[in-house]
Amino acid sequence: MLVAPSILSADFGNLTNEVKAICSSGADLVHIDIMDGHFVPNLTIGPIVVSAIANSATKPLDIHLMVENNSFFVDMFAPLKPEYISFHIEEEKHPDRLIGKIRSLGIKPAIVLNPHTPPEAIEFLIAKLDMVLLMSVNPGFGGQKFIPSVLEKVKRLKSLIEKYNPNCLIEVDGGINNENISLLREVGVDIAVAGSYIFNHTEGYEYAISSLKG
Ligand code: DX5
Ligand code: ZN
Repeated sequence: MLVAPSILSADFGNLTNEVKAICSSGADLVHIDIMDGHFVPNLTIGPIVVSAIANSATKPLDIHLMVENNSFFVDMFAPLKPEYISFHIEEEKHPDRLIGKIRSLGIKPAIVLNPHTPPEAIEFLIAKLDMVLLMSVNPGFGGQKFIPSVLEKVKRLKSLIEKYNPNCLIEVDGGINNENISLLREVGVDIAVAGSYIFNHTEGYEYAISSLKG
């Protein structure tokens, strides 16, 4: 399983060193949470700070949009050449069009589902995606409790992926730690996003990330 540390729980006063540290401690991707204060009740960072992260990162960027007006934010972050841009299906009227736009910019498109959204909501989009991100908390904040119903969703999503696009990856985000990671591994999750577990770990980032990789 790949691990994508969410920099939301990093020390923002020391951000570039934090990014370098996770990249040299076994991170596979750098997960960046973009919140606009409208789609979610929190506000994070824009292109100036994400550009500083991109300059320090030695691993690909995984940008998770939690915003209204996805297309505007895709234009904002595309020049930073992230590996993935994921957007919430709950906030997008024209997901098929947006997937095409992200891909035309040379970026892998991904869709995010909130905890209440069934995998069947994206059945006819899976063929065009590189990844589906399932939220295992309500989006907006780090440090929340893992919602276990995501495990059943992973199973249902997996059967859709097998039918429509076996190359599509499954990422899970929120409340992941060394206690629930084995449940995610059992159901076949490809990428685990973890913020507070990694950045607050007393034994350091390398230990925390390797404890998730198992
Ligand atoms: C929540 C974010 C997550 C969050 C994960 O809206 O999408 O990426 O930072 O943090 P933890 O691992 O602390 O739940
Ligand atoms: Zn996230």
